[in-house]
Amino acid sequence: MPYYHQLGKIPAKRHTQFRKPSGELYSEQLFSTEGFSSIYSLLYHNYPPTSIKHVDAPYDVQPKVMGPMQMLHRSFQGFNVPAEDDFLKSRKYVLVNDDVRISLSAPRQSMTDYFYKNGDADEMIFVHIGSGTLKTMYGNIDFEYGDYIMIPRGTIYQVHFKEENNRLLIAESPTPIVPPHKYLNEMGQLLEHSPFCERDIKVPSSLETHDEKGDFLIYIKKKGIMYPYHYMYHPFDVVGWDGFNYPWAFSIHNFEPITGRIHQPPPVHQTFEARNFVVCSFCPRLFDYHPLSIPAPYNHSNVDSDEVLYYVDGDFMSRKHVTKGMITLHPGGIPHGPHPGTVEKSIGAKETKELAVMIDTFHPLFLTEDALSIEDKDYYLSWMSDRDRDEMLIP
Ligand SMILES: [Fe+2]
Repeated sequence: MPYYHQLGKIPAKRHTQFRKPSGELYSEQLFSTEGFSSIYSLLYHNYPPTSIKHVDAPYDVQPKVMGPMQMLHRSFQGFNVPAEDDFLKSRKYVLVNDDVRISLSAPRQSMTDYFYKNGDADEMIFVHIGSGTLKTMYGNIDFEYGDYIMIPRGTIYQVHFKEENNRLLIAESPTPIVPPHKYLNEMGQLLEHSPFCERDIKVPSSLETHDEKGDFLIYIKKKGIMYPYHYMYHPFDVVGWDGFNYPWAFSIHNFEPITGRIHQPPPVHQTFEARNFVVCSFCPRLFDYHPLSIPAPYNHSNVDSDEVLYYVDGDFMSRKHVTKGMITLHPGGIPHGPHPGTVEKSIGAKETKELAVMIDTFHPLFLTEDALSIEDKDYYLSWMSDRDRDEMLIP
């Protein structure tokens, strides 16, 4: 998150002697991004973060992409992804390209006997069901339903859940996922017309400092390969840090929708951006108030992007048969729009309770083996009206 934060104890001046009560030096670590050219943090460890005991055999965790891309409207039942005990094994890639990898996950258990570090990508974990605590070397963040948890690449973390019923939508990005630049002033502060501000951001608030020697397993992912590293010291041994690079969270329920007299285009819902994709939040809001307004969206041709909508809660005025956890993919190249009957039905409606997360990519997405196993195969035919179906004698 691009504003300065500090937690725990740090020396008055960087790169100077900073000693434990025993007289030993703390171990300073510069955590920089984009070489030394972008945001960074300075962390002070009880022990060097470099003491490797051994590394187990690495293994492949690349998504299993299915065949060539097909330009077809798709729909998936996200809640049909089976729950699994383990956090890492529960993560199932569904839609992927070089800019973003989207997965669904229903982990039952907290991470207690290992840690995880994504060395490739920033992670955005949207919490659809569940609550708990994200534990990191920068400190802890409590999370709950509706939180977008942002974990910059390289952060060592554990997720601890309060209960077993958890549903997560995860996006991994090789570039930082950040608030849109259009909402930032030249000093990096969120502007007055931004739908959220710094006060809505949750930052690490409590630092858990361990002083333990032993065998600490950290799964480190790099280029689709998982490396099981065993370290000598507990990775959460930081006594203090400061800087601009750290995990944070933002609740979708704190997104303040932008409304108007007539239908507002999807960019008003934009919440985050990364290279070649954006994330939008569709939140409960009052509908358009022009006397002749049509609240339902128009048909539109998204020639340049694939649109992924993940349905969280509420009714969706433009779609039929929507269920929680459902995903629709409307690929670039062919138009899509409201389902038959929903345009007339939307007229006169005063508000919507819909809650959804949209991920729009500027390059095509590819389906995985796991996506095909939860697909509703007839979705692309769902824009035919009942009358059209009758005429074609389609049951
Ligand atoms: Fe759309």
